[in-house]
Parts: sequence; C-alpha cells; structure tokens
Amino acid sequence: MNRRLGVLISGRGSNLQALIDAVEDGRLDASIAVVISNLEGAGGLSRAHAAGIEALCVSHRGWPTRDDYDRALAAELKARDVTLVCLAGFMRRIGPPLIDAFPDAIVNIHPSLLPAFPGVDAQRQAVEYGVKFSGVTVHLVTEDLDAGPIILQRAVPLHDGDTPETLAARILIEEHVAYPEAVKLMLDGGYRIDGRRVIRAR
Ligand code: GRF
Repeated sequence: MNRRLGVLISGRGSNLQALIDAVEDGRLDASIAVVISNLEGAGGLSRAHAAGIEALCVSHRGWPTRDDYDRALAAELKARDVTLVCLAGFMRRIGPPLIDAFPDAIVNIHPSLLPAFPGVDAQRQAVEYGVKFSGVTVHLVTEDLDAGPIILQRAVPLHDGDTPETLAARILIEEHVAYPEAVKLMLDGGYRIDGRRVIRAR
C-alpha cells in the first residue's frame, strides 16, 4: 500500500519534525514525499532539506482565485503520489478542489480540545477563558475551519500561572506525540468514519 505523505506548512515545522523523526526511528511506516510551504523562508523547509526530503514553496499569492491555488497544491501532491496530506501549521483555509482530490485523506493538528477554541491563538483563547484543561486535536479536514471528524485528542491541564506561551509549550509536547500516532492510525486504516465519529477498529 502506498504510504506517501505530503506535509503542508507555513512556519517553523516542529510537527513536521515530529513526523520526520517518527519515520526515521521506525514508529511510523511511511515516507514523506514532499513538504510544501506557502511562505518562502518557513523554518520547516530547512528541516525538510536537512532530512533529504523534497521541499518547495508554492506561494498562495498571485492566483486568480483561492480555488486555483488549491488546484495547484493538489497537482503538486498528486504528481508525487501522495496518499495522505498532513497540515502542520499550514495557515491557509483548504477549499473544495483540494478536499475533493483527497477525500477523507487530509488531516490537521490544532492546539486545543476542539470544538473549543478553533482558529488562531487557541492557547491564548484557552488561558483567557479560564478552562482547566486544553490540549491537542488531530482531525480530518473539511470545508469548515477546525471542525472535521476528530481522530484523536490529548488533554493538557492548565496551571494557575500559565501564560499563552507556557501553555503552548506544554501542548506542543503532546502535539508531537499525537500527530505521528494519528497519521499511523490513518495509514493503517484502523478506523471507520460514522458521521462525525472516527471509530477505531478493535
Ligand atoms: C501547532 O501548534 C499546530 O497545532 C498549529 O500550528 C502550530 C504549528 O507549529 N496548527 P509547528 O510549525 O508545527 O511548529
């Protein structure tokens, strides 16, 4: 079975690194076929280069429409025989041309226990709201922002003295565990989707 990942990033790429490490040390039986950033100079591109992975920038600027950009991304991913697309800090909304090209095969990682605190600054939202637990969610990507079926979550307790930064740092540790685990689950096909629920096979 083809287990080729395409990873989309916009920034430092620590979750990309977690996937690279999991592949390299054998926890994740997969290969990362390509890393694509929408921004030049994203730190994650250097991480990909260092690991010998093809890395390119496909800027979101200059396309006639948002759909044209999504079609371009889909074409780059398909050209490399990607079967699972992993968003890892990719700061763009994904639209129908990309979603339809990879049905139930685009995943995202988000630093809160969804449906709480979707969108940007999830850790700040959690601190300001005063919740006692936040965490990380890996979910399937649909057209609705941060709202697709949940693959797995890990909870992180808040401390009284937490700032958005200290909370983000503790959540990030859990992200790096959760993402390879969720990707493995998807690649192994050890689940079925029932409405909103991703149900693990026994
Ligand atoms: C992570 O917190 C991820 O959950 C969110 O964006 C951040 C990306 O961080 N979607 P990195 O680029 O993977 O270090």
